[in-house]
Amino acid sequence: MSTVVVTGTQWGDEGKGKIVDYLAQQADIVVRHQGGSNAGHTVVVDGQDYKLRLMPSGILYKGSLCIVGNGVAFDPKIMLEEMDGLAKRGIDLSGIRISNRAHVVLPYHCLMDGLGDEARGKNKVGTTHRGIGPCYVDRDNRIGIRVCDFIDKEEFAKRLKENLEIKNRELKLLYDHEPLDYDQMLEEYNGYADRLRPYVCDTIALLNDEIDKGKKVLFEGAQATMLDIDYGTYPYVTASHPVAGGPTVGAGVAPKKIDKVVGIVKAYCTRVGEGPFPTEQLNAIGDKIREEGHEYGVVTGRPRRTGWLDACVVRYAGLLSGIDYMAVTRLDILDSFDEIKMCVGYKYKGELLNEIPASLKILADVEPVYETFEGWKTDITKVRKYEDLPEKAKKYLERMAEVTNIKLGIVSVGPNRDETIVLAKDIF
Ligand code: GDP
Ligand code: IMO
Ligand code: MG
Repeated sequence: MSTVVVTGTQWGDEGKGKIVDYLAQQADIVVRHQGGSNAGHTVVVDGQDYKLRLMPSGILYKGSLCIVGNGVAFDPKIMLEEMDGLAKRGIDLSGIRISNRAHVVLPYHCLMDGLGDEARGKNKVGTTHRGIGPCYVDRDNRIGIRVCDFIDKEEFAKRLKENLEIKNRELKLLYDHEPLDYDQMLEEYNGYADRLRPYVCDTIALLNDEIDKGKKVLFEGAQATMLDIDYGTYPYVTASHPVAGGPTVGAGVAPKKIDKVVGIVKAYCTRVGEGPFPTEQLNAIGDKIREEGHEYGVVTGRPRRTGWLDACVVRYAGLLSGIDYMAVTRLDILDSFDEIKMCVGYKYKGELLNEIPASLKILADVEPVYETFEGWKTDITKVRKYEDLPEKAKKYLERMAEVTNIKLGIVSVGPNRDETIVLAKDIF
């Protein structure tokens, strides 16, 4: 048995796609278990970029099974767009499997995501408008449409009618928006269902059978700990559980079947959308991080907010997800910095805090306690062995492991598959 969960430790965009693709060399199956097309995972192979949203990042290996689990907010239109794009680039799609229990994102979810968030004015979350929150709201309100119903023409026609009546009333009353057309939506989505039907199955049975046969499975988290609906900076969070517990409910795999957890840690910090970010640098340093790192969103193109590494947040992620190893990504982006800072604690009203505060009022007011490191001022992108990294870079990494209490497993020094240094030999 060998199952590995990959989880983001910060506010997303840590490089989960790159590390999942790297680890997928050894895996038989890659599974998405939460989130939806709000994710933007970039995989670079031989200098070619693949931007994946719903598609598990194992798709670039011929023959690997790529499962979209029951916990995913599944947008059939985006999935087909991705599939068509990949097919044009010669990628084999035969390994795709879509859970019959996943909930379907429909146009009213995306529309209401945008209208709802804008209506909050200055309190908006800054969502991706991909319909993720509204889709999960319908699931939890028990009016959602699951994939098994979506591919059943009769059932879908009935459920869409019922839902659209409710949604059109809400659209009119809340936003004075014109109604969405039932016949047009039914026809369009029936077309998508016809194309996707061959990929739909009971992924819970499939996955558990494969695990029992000894197949190697990677669970690819989307978003990250600080965007988790319960553990993140609520309400500035996404609507799912990116922590490592996610696959147990989002893919139907029991906790005792999970062997290892890898936490992805970007060597500094970014955030897209609103909400507190204690180590944010609204200054020339933040601008330098953004420019060196090309920190602009994959999904929305928005400039990402930037700041120093917050080891308090990573330590919290380690606790919540039981992280065995961290994979530190984008260390190369810091190559040209004279000085690098790491937040190792929070002070509030002069006192050191032991926990990440639940109250956003407090979190917005904490004073990060920084340690300062000398920059290594060397191009590290060609380094392939840990011992060949500059001493100053190792010092930064080793302090990170110490403060977070998580072992260093991987160091990534570039977006390509081979730009990876592996210290842990027992991830799989
Ligand atoms: P994800 O959402 O966690 O998968 O991360 P994104 O794909 O949104 O953003 C990470 C970006 O960093 C992508 O453009 C990756 O290709 C890139 N990347 C990943 N690892 C590294 C690295 O070690 N160095 C550099 N320079 N880029 C990296
Ligand atoms: P990956 O998987 C970074 C953010 C949005 C917004 C909040 C809620 O690429 O790391 P949502 O549309 O999910 O309801 O938006 O969460 N967000 C992400 N930020 N990376 C992501 O995914 C994100 N997915 C959602 O910007 O602040
Ligand atoms: Mg991303």
